[in-house]
Amino acid sequence: LKKINVGVIGLGRIGKLHADNVLKFIPDLQLQAVADVNLDEAWYCERNINKAYSAPEPIIEDPDIDAVLICSPTPTHVPLIISAAKAGKHIFCEKPVALEIDAIQQALDVVNETGITFQIGFNRRFDPNFKKIHQAVVDGEVGAPHLVRITSYDPAPPPPEYVAQSGGIFLDMSIHDFDMARYLAGSEIVEIFATGGVLVNKWIGEAGDVDTAIIQLKFANGALGVIDNCRQAAYGYDQRVEVFGAKGNISAHNKTPTNTVLSTAEGVVADKPHHFFLERYQDSYIGELQAFADSITQQKPSITDPKDGLMAARVALAAKQSFEAHQTIKLD
Ligand SMILES: NC(=O)c1ccc[n+]([C@@H]2O[C@H](COP(=O)([O-])OP(=O)(O)OC[C@H]3O[C@@H](n4cnc5c(N)ncnc54)[C@H](O)[C@@H]3O)[C@@H](O)[C@H]2O)c1
Repeated sequence: LKKINVGVIGLGRIGKLHADNVLKFIPDLQLQAVADVNLDEAWYCERNINKAYSAPEPIIEDPDIDAVLICSPTPTHVPLIISAAKAGKHIFCEKPVALEIDAIQQALDVVNETGITFQIGFNRRFDPNFKKIHQAVVDGEVGAPHLVRITSYDPAPPPPEYVAQSGGIFLDMSIHDFDMARYLAGSEIVEIFATGGVLVNKWIGEAGDVDTAIIQLKFANGALGVIDNCRQAAYGYDQRVEVFGAKGNISAHNKTPTNTVLSTAEGVVADKPHHFFLERYQDSYIGELQAFADSITQQKPSITDPKDGLMAARVALAAKQSFEAHQTIKLD
């Protein structure tokens, strides 16, 4: 079977992680080229990557490259998707596709016309715990879902430059939870109310964003949902999910480096959660890249397809609108 030659565009926090996962864990994908406007020479030399560029174009124009992983900042995604799709490259693109629905639609129209494989980086669907919860709902083990609860707190806020380009907490951070909520409830979000505050860092407020939020959801199947987000948790990356239904309840708790519990006269001590997404979601990052390779080689649809990118962004924009207007927003 022919290997899929891959180029990674954007080698920041997530691009380096995906590139290393391709090299170490996904034999179907061959990392051939990398591009970053601020190229880290030591990094690519250490990995013997021959083709390294300070712009994405040489990767997109390279006839030997079959697929690209777009890991550059969000505002670069749409132009890169359009040019890569027109060049016939399969695309894995980090979330969110873009911050405006028109731009997302424009990119996805080109993707659909060209018929390439397109996967959006909603990695959490590939987490073994969340996959099991999804399957339990699909199999009817908890009965009809009544409530979906998602807690997602980061250990520390990203740098100000990142926040400025991120589109704000709802589009940058909660978007993962909107995708997870749709995935677990097995239904679209039809109503949303979001509230938020600046409790962690004043500069986040000065950048026009909030760092703490609560979002109420109603799904088309009648189920209700609640998502709580914070940019800073003193004890690490807090990622919990629960689906409560007519026949029962299924939940996933935090993953910890070890599952030891030390009990003494002073008290009972367990590990803190993993520090952040790189450690907590490593299984899911490997899983999503394997799924991308499988979609290409087996010509099967992506698990997180263009529609998922669009729907989560619509919900995120509705959350932003709800927060700004202090109103419940209905979605078609
Ligand atoms: N799925 C996840 O868990 C996850 C986690 C973090 C970030 N992300 C997403 O990944 C994207 C990147 O985030 P990050 O945290 O890695 O950011 P980052 O700032 O750490 O890295 C971005 C990199 O892209 C480079 N770059 C900028 N413009 C470029 C261009 N035109 N062409 C090539 N390279 C360019 C920068 O020099 C930088 O090295 C964002 O869209 C973000 O939402 C997803």
